[in-house]
Amino acid sequence: MIDFDDQVAVVTGAGRGLGRIYALELARRGAAVVVNDLGGSMSGDGSDVAVADQVVDEIVASGGTAVASYDSVDSPEGGEAIVRTAVERFGRLDAVISNAGIFNSIPFDELSPEDWRRMLRVHLDGGFYLSQPAFRVMKNQGYGRFVFIASSAGMFGQHLEAHYAAAKAGLVGLANVIALEGAPHGILANAVLPFGISRMVTETLGDPKALEDNGFFKAIQPELVAPLVVYLASRDCSLSHQNFSACAGRFARVFVGLGEGWLAPTDSNPTADDVAAHLSEVAATEPFTVPESIYDEVFAVTERLGVTG
Ligand SMILES: NC(=O)c1ccc[n+]([C@@H]2O[C@H](COP(=O)([O-])OP(=O)(O)OC[C@H]3O[C@@H](n4cnc5c(N)ncnc54)[C@H](O)[C@@H]3O)[C@@H](O)[C@H]2O)c1
Repeated sequence: MIDFDDQVAVVTGAGRGLGRIYALELARRGAAVVVNDLGGSMSGDGSDVAVADQVVDEIVASGGTAVASYDSVDSPEGGEAIVRTAVERFGRLDAVISNAGIFNSIPFDELSPEDWRRMLRVHLDGGFYLSQPAFRVMKNQGYGRFVFIASSAGMFGQHLEAHYAAAKAGLVGLANVIALEGAPHGILANAVLPFGISRMVTETLGDPKALEDNGFFKAIQPELVAPLVVYLASRDCSLSHQNFSACAGRFARVFVGLGEGWLAPTDSNPTADDVAAHLSEVAATEPFTVPESIYDEVFAVTERLGVTG
């Protein structure tokens, strides 16, 4: 059995929804858990310490170890404070689940700069504010695991969610670089695109009857996301730099492929008309590679060009 004995995990947004399930499962498997939650509304207003406290009580009542943190992830001080809580209370930090999030739905042409900024501040800035101090601790330890909770909205698109999708896709970019820079230090970083019934789903739909009657909503139990998140957070995990979707018990890799494309003849000065003429090759998804960094793409092109040095 995968265990977290002698390990310490931070889960942000762990007071409710999917984050709570991750925290309970990590604690059940032996991790000392920092249960971070600001306790605000779905769209990010207000705060309530009882939200994190309840999950800490639940973990302690079942024999686990946990401490509450009420800091908001959306400031550098908040991220620092969450990491400090782990180190001061438990002496180290092995796994970070960057999960805290807010949600609302706004048509793109009505999205204000404030709506945009608020969403990015919590999800994307928050991911940075949390992961940078955590990375420094992990680098010193020579060990660490990051799981960034992204979204299919960001990777594939979702109506009314330009701000949310941009923030979530941004976390994938952040995870990619942490994976590269963390590799020499035993630090792995992956992203998870979850589906799970929580208030994000129920409040957005607003109609409890729609939930009762819908087989898909019944199928996406939040407990079905935790196995993947917990695996990626564990010392058994050796994967890094990858994205996975967890939907109703279907666990699957989500990757960015680079098509072979069309290579214009050397010194041919290709025009827009040439691109149009070769569109089927330019836009083809097969064959493809999955670059592990920008350098893989560069090397593949220079090789085809016969360029050396
Ligand atoms: N539920 C889904 O189907 C789904 C799908 C894709 C992605 N996600 C993502 O999964 C994560 C968890 O979502 P959920 O569905 O459990 O929602 P939720 O609203 O039930 O839980 C989110 C928690 O994050 C906390 N939080 C919000 N802002 C915070 C901040 N600044 N600092 C600290 N805590 C904060 C909230 O208080 C809340 O308890 C989110 O990042 C969400 O975007 C969820």
